[in-house]
Amino acid sequence: MKTIGVYTSGGDAPGMNACVRAVVRTAIYNGLNVKGIMRGYEGMISGEIIDLDRQSVANLIQRGGTFLKTARSTEFMTPEGRKKAYDNVIANGIDALVCIGGNGSYTGAKIFTEEYGIPCIGLPGTIDNDLYGTDYTIGYDTAINTALDAIDKIRDTAHSHERVFIVEVMGRDSGFIALDVAIAGGAEGALIPEDIEDWDKVIKHFSREGRRQKSFSIIVVAEGDEQGGALILEKKLAAIYPDLKIRSTILGHVQRGGSPSARDRILASRLGSEAVKALIDGQKSITVGIVNDQVSYTEFDLAIHGKKSVSKDLIQLAEILAT
Ligand code: F6P
Repeated sequence: MKTIGVYTSGGDAPGMNACVRAVVRTAIYNGLNVKGIMRGYEGMISGEIIDLDRQSVANLIQRGGTFLKTARSTEFMTPEGRKKAYDNVIANGIDALVCIGGNGSYTGAKIFTEEYGIPCIGLPGTIDNDLYGTDYTIGYDTAINTALDAIDKIRDTAHSHERVFIVEVMGRDSGFIALDVAIAGGAEGALIPEDIEDWDKVIKHFSREGRRQKSFSIIVVAEGDEQGGALILEKKLAAIYPDLKIRSTILGHVQRGGSPSARDRILASRLGSEAVKALIDGQKSITVGIVNDQVSYTEFDLAIHGKKSVSKDLIQLAEILAT
């Protein structure tokens, strides 16, 4: 192995730049070359590939987004698209890949390795924290702190106007962001796909007995919750309790941006470096994560299909602290 190609793919996440930086610097430290593939699989297909040296990743560790850009590629899902990608990989002398992204990006990398035998290491880059094989994904810590900051601000208005605020956060089909943010933000309810009793808990909370002396409330809802998003819930709750003054806020993509937290920078740096070490050690088709503060390797298949669950203890904690 002489040259590693690195790319970011899927939704951007704070810390992706720190991760690419760690890949580049660890590879060069070990006498390897690095090429950056722009826009994930799109750039692999179009041949948009650049040389990366130590200097090209300077002053990046603190920046959100990804300087390599990112995309969700439909063409890479076709054999023709992957053949074009393979031709460009070979033309650029790339003999191993590091893919930073989420589940869809892992799936692309797995198929590509199977078809063309190019070793590929997947690194968990998504704000959703929904990837098996790692306790935390790159970008998650920053995203929950961004959401928390917004909730603290919303709380001021909720308190001043004695209103109920329903705050919708991202997370795709998972409730990691919503649950953590609800606990950290002192919310009165967390609606997440993993808890089917959450809506009943909210209704109970606003019943006469449940309401206590509280004149305002924050309810956090995960975008993937089966009850629907914030706007739907606002209508549902208003229909049951017409006396409540309810507003909803969808935090949206603000959760994806911003300077990565210290935790994310450290996680990204560790994982970027470990991916290069794994390739040097001859690993071919795995993801690298951190579990209980130890580096952990997971076969692509398991990383893609394994289900990471939110903690039942945290669901209970959110409920207890909301009473
Ligand atoms: O996977 C990250 C994520 O931000 C999810 O939380 C969200 O569902 C999705 O991406 C949004 O995707 P897009 O940026 O394409 O709208």
